[in-house]
Amino acid sequence: MSSCVFQYPTQQINVAPKNGAKKVRPAELRLQAPQSARDLIQDECRSLVLSNQQLKRLMAAMEKSMEEGLATSTKKVAVKMLPTYVDSVPNGTERGDFLALDLGGTNFRVLHIRLDGTPQAEMRGKIFRVPESIMRGSGEALFDHIADCMAKFMEENGLRKDVKLPLGFTFSFPCAQQGLTKGKLISWTKGFKASGVEGSDVVTLLREACHRRKDIDIDVVALLNDTVGTLMACAFQENTCQIGVIVGTGTNACYMERMDRIPKLAGYVDEHDHTPEEMIINTEWGAFGDDGTMHFCRTKWDDQVDRESINPGQQLYEKMISGMYMGEVVRVILEDLARKNLLFCGNFEAISKAHCFPTKFVSEIDQDLIDSEQDDANFQKTYQILEDIGIETVSSSDCANVAYVCSLVSTRAAHLTAAGIAMLLNRMNKRMVTVGVDGSVYRFHPTYPKLLDEKIDELIVGDIEYQLMLSEDGSGRGAALVAAVATRIKAEKLALRKLSAIKFSSN
Ligand code: GLC
Repeated sequence: MSSCVFQYPTQQINVAPKNGAKKVRPAELRLQAPQSARDLIQDECRSLVLSNQQLKRLMAAMEKSMEEGLATSTKKVAVKMLPTYVDSVPNGTERGDFLALDLGGTNFRVLHIRLDGTPQAEMRGKIFRVPESIMRGSGEALFDHIADCMAKFMEENGLRKDVKLPLGFTFSFPCAQQGLTKGKLISWTKGFKASGVEGSDVVTLLREACHRRKDIDIDVVALLNDTVGTLMACAFQENTCQIGVIVGTGTNACYMERMDRIPKLAGYVDEHDHTPEEMIINTEWGAFGDDGTMHFCRTKWDDQVDRESINPGQQLYEKMISGMYMGEVVRVILEDLARKNLLFCGNFEAISKAHCFPTKFVSEIDQDLIDSEQDDANFQKTYQILEDIGIETVSSSDCANVAYVCSLVSTRAAHLTAAGIAMLLNRMNKRMVTVGVDGSVYRFHPTYPKLLDEKIDELIVGDIEYQLMLSEDGSGRGAALVAAVATRIKAEKLALRKLSAIKFSSN
């Protein structure tokens, strides 16, 4: 590994005044001792640190966006607030055999789940890759691929193709549902772009794909978002769970909303002529800010990541938080700093390659920062990552500064998510709420869960209590649970109807 001595930039640096400080004029700047790279980087990166005041402003703006979303399903709004038609959580008695399909990222899963009324569901599954050519090809090819994977799984697991198991389909994209088994994709997110799917009912597309191959038939009893699966999987263990959050490739949250606060569902009755008191709303908060409301806390780097993404102008909150983008935000900052000669002796070519810095590097470097603070391990991992990217001039202060940028970006992501969760907790205003959380960022980033928890605590008001709970496979188990609850309630209501028919005829 080559090293170099840090050269103080020779060009004029504009140092923004610190809070209350007098603006430093160029002449005075020249008289002062040169600032260290860290000081200059700190100045450059100040906009990445969000104060509680900014977070509270964000919470107010988000709640306003959510109210706009709850009011209408016809006008274009940033935060869509989609009704899920799930109005009950599991009661622990759910039993039976279910199939679950889970599509939401680069992998697609098929699962066979046996619920026996205990939290430990029996589960076997298989993961299939979704190649980029399929993610961005035709919708027909995508659903043929799904049906193909399903047929393979059933074959390998000796599941008879003529017996239709009730199926829960976790489809983790914004869907305008018309009921529990029907939903039109509004727009693709997270790098998907398969043609001909937006505007169509994805359950019909799945059924058609099964019919095309003739050897499998399905009985879709529930279509759900991964956040809903997360909430349900946690609620099965902890009945105070009323919020489900994902911080993985994308980010999103769902929560139990009172029906009287969902104007766009006014007058709703279910197929059993019943109006529930509450319903889970899939917020699709990843799109918060798409109408410009988040301008006050965005940076030029966020704008760049958005501009260069596959869906510019969309999912702006998600692009500041989730795993698909966090590494790229760090990369564009590092590139900018290298171009300004504040990193890597000004060698910016290697770090300029888009997507060369995935989010898992952010987790690894943040871990390295913790280790280095504890036992002087000297950023070995960080060196290695930067060298593997192809940066030839890495000094130890570069490593410390790269770790500093990573920690700023991941802390900001945790604080932005905390603002969203705290806003929901304050809005729900219930005494005790469990928040089910899942996703690769929450699972694998070393400090994210703690940062999230501490900030939520600072932002909630009154005497609300909450706890965060890691969800165990919400997209799989949760799908089976939604399917099971739907099947149970249907059976209960049928039995009730029969009973009242008998009573009626015997009177
Ligand atoms: C994206 C999707 C959303 C999903 C989230 C997490 O934001 O639009 O539906 O829940 O990613 O996977």
